[in-house]
Amino acid sequence: MTVSIALPKGRLGNKVYKLLESCGVAAEESLGDSRKLVFESPGGGVRYFLVKPSDVAIYVENGAADLGVVGKDILEETRPDVYELLDLGIGRCRMCVAAKEDYREDKSRPVVVATKFPRVAREYYASTGRDIEIIKLSGSIELAPLLGMSDVIVDIVETGTTLKENKLEVKEEIFPISARLIAGKAAYKFKESEITGIAQKLREVTR
Ligand code: PRP
Repeated sequence: MTVSIALPKGRLGNKVYKLLESCGVAAEESLGDSRKLVFESPGGGVRYFLVKPSDVAIYVENGAADLGVVGKDILEETRPDVYELLDLGIGRCRMCVAAKEDYREDKSRPVVVATKFPRVAREYYASTGRDIEIIKLSGSIELAPLLGMSDVIVDIVETGTTLKENKLEVKEEIFPISARLIAGKAAYKFKESEITGIAQKLREVTR
């Protein structure tokens, strides 16, 4: 039975693909040399789909892919109805609250938060008992506090370079992030041995 795997296009997907290659499930041709989005392993045991990172869990949840690799940030934000099988230990970064170095909270009004992760932001601030207003953005989040559009941002920090170069700093850490192997619920039921076989091999090479 063929197991299909949705890989996030880009750096994380390339890293994960290298891990899968070392598990003996390489594709027939190298990923990324063309505009192709579907690749198969020589024996046909595995089929890879290249998808936008934020869409991986959608393919898996809808049964279009059996397995996927997705960051914990996206899982926390979208809470897809899938199984999280394994922490791959790569793509490590942190979900943080960041603001200008001299930012001081004005407790007489809600905190204005710019973010790509409104659910994460809402839940975090609810847990601290603070009122917020959310401005949902799609990228370059760090601009919002620089322009006075928001007080803080809730965003991913990896090396910290983007914050530093924009004179922002981490104020609070919300949770650590790494890439996770996820499986569709129906796929897991019908292809359990194939899926657990791949997960087991990945566990060995990431240990
Ligand atoms: C992400 C994130 C930060 C940056 C953090 O942005 O939103 O801006 O990476 O990385 P660093 O701590 O290593 O600097 P991304 O590159 O995805 O671009 P975006 O602005 O389009 O979201």
